[in-house]
Amino acid sequence: MKGFLKTSLQAVLGKGGYRAARSAYYASKRWIKMRHQGAMDRLYWLRKYGLRRYSIYGHRLVPSGLPEDHAVALYDVAKSLPDCGPVLVEIGSWLGKSAVVLSRAISKKKGAVLFCIDPFNAHGDPSSAAHYRNVSQKMDVSLLEHFTQNIKRYGSYKHVKTLRGYSTDFSGNWDKPIDLLFIDGNHSYEAVKRDFLEWSPFIKPGGYLIMHDVSFDPNFRHQDPIKVAREFILDNSEWVDHKQIRHMLIVRKAYERSETSPVHKTARL
Ligand SMILES: C[S@@+](CC[C@H](N)C(=O)[O-])C[C@H]1O[C@@H](n2cnc3c(N)ncnc32)[C@H](O)[C@@H]1O
Repeated sequence: MKGFLKTSLQAVLGKGGYRAARSAYYASKRWIKMRHQGAMDRLYWLRKYGLRRYSIYGHRLVPSGLPEDHAVALYDVAKSLPDCGPVLVEIGSWLGKSAVVLSRAISKKKGAVLFCIDPFNAHGDPSSAAHYRNVSQKMDVSLLEHFTQNIKRYGSYKHVKTLRGYSTDFSGNWDKPIDLLFIDGNHSYEAVKRDFLEWSPFIKPGGYLIMHDVSFDPNFRHQDPIKVAREFILDNSEWVDHKQIRHMLIVRKAYERSETSPVHKTARL
């Protein structure tokens, strides 16, 4: 039957026409399959996280190591920020996955800004840099262009200000109080410590610090961010409301030194 169909089509279309029709047929099959998978994935997201968080669905199409529970937590915290003029700073943006989430979360807030700091040159701690290099070498556009495309396509571009460079390049002249600081840049001990010490003083009382790749698991890939958290945050009454979502730490700066954290103990489990 297959052979008969092929011969008949070749007779009608000619050999070249048959080949073109066959390619078009397989391309359309692939397209339908992709659309079907895309639709199923959208449905999955909608059912799991509801209509309220559907606006960040697009972040799933941006490659990066940010798991979905972390994306949802980032969204929820950013969404809870004041409605007028919140300032968010992200150290380490890569291809924009977390920036898509954060920018979407503030897209209805008047005057809200998300500053995204990244050198966009694939530099990083030794355990990540090789991966960044491999990914960036396979791209047909620069990391910065890729980041910008993703934000335009899936995030809220008008709420994002891109600062190209290392976090330390900007901390010296920084003067804006910060509502949410997300540290996810270089994961070495010195770099995380520097990011924390240079940037956290700008967090407003009641504002949030979120650190990625902070894990209590001794086998976790990055062991340095947790050292910084233990040294400066976890036993420091300036930081309250600790929440640990697997390898992401969320804390809030206390309004006063005496404010204590009710979930401090469980958060460390
Ligand atoms: C883990 S990726 C960020 C992932 C991103 N937050 C996400 O979830 O999609 C780390 C990024 O930080 C960048 N980076 C490394 N050192 C940095 C520094 N000192 N300041 C800012 N970004 C840095 C890396 O080049 C990389 O693009």
